[in-house]
Amino acid sequence: MAQNIYDREDFFAGYSQLGRSVEGLEGAAEWPAMRAMLPDVGGLRVVDLGCGFGWFCRWAREHGAAQVLGLDLSEKMLARARAAGPDAGISYETADLDRLSLPEASFDLVYSSLALHYVEDVSRLFGTVHRALAPGGHFVFSTEHPIFMAPTKPGWVIDSEGRKTWPVDQYLVEGPRSTDWLAKGVVKHHRTIGTTLNALLQAGFTIAHVEEFRPTSEQIAAKPELAEELERPMFLLVSVRR
Ligand SMILES: C[S@@+](CC[C@H](N)C(=O)[O-])C[C@H]1O[C@@H](n2cnc3c(N)ncnc32)[C@H](O)[C@@H]1O
Repeated sequence: MAQNIYDREDFFAGYSQLGRSVEGLEGAAEWPAMRAMLPDVGGLRVVDLGCGFGWFCRWAREHGAAQVLGLDLSEKMLARARAAGPDAGISYETADLDRLSLPEASFDLVYSSLALHYVEDVSRLFGTVHRALAPGGHFVFSTEHPIFMAPTKPGWVIDSEGRKTWPVDQYLVEGPRSTDWLAKGVVKHHRTIGTTLNALLQAGFTIAHVEEFRPTSEQIAAKPELAEELERPMFLLVSVRR
């Protein structure tokens, strides 16, 4: 059974205050890059894996998606998604991505933002997603970059010249890693980029685009604290097709 950290009171309270929780997609630095990887969603049948507050589900409907299914493990996250208001074209359901089953060939776009690093068995999930897509369908996702997740000890290190550097250790040791982010003992699953991309290929996908997120100079000018994201990639963005 997956860890359901988003339903823990302390974690949820902290997560609710993040920019992406308050401002939605516009508060997520990687959203413009993700958006550029999406097909025109007009008329598409969409599923959002780990939909959280449902920001993408609503964006997809506003941009013409025929129907959107938002799935999440956390009842608290789903309650906030539902509270954003009813839409006959959106349904939110509880699901564990580690045990997910979806009807075959029933979606045109599978989307997932920053949920897959909580999934233990991505090979299983990618197989499920491949079968759930209609031929030619898109799977677009972001996940925490394994270099960002790699330090077994938290955070930045100051080198001998006083520069902030990112310590990467045990990169090739895959599996669960416990971190303290918003709460103690948050479990994420570390995988190399090779493992993730090979799992997609083995599931039968064609890789269309892979991006290691970096903020643009315009984004850094508007939010100078984003400059530290140039030291190491925080997110891995991937677009594949069935
Ligand atoms: C970082 S939040 C991202 C939420 C949303 N996709 C966004 O980008 O704003 C990660 C989400 O994944 C969900 N999640 C984590 N593990 C999950 C699992 N095993 N099955 C389904 N959802 C999961 C969490 O409950 C949370 O809502």
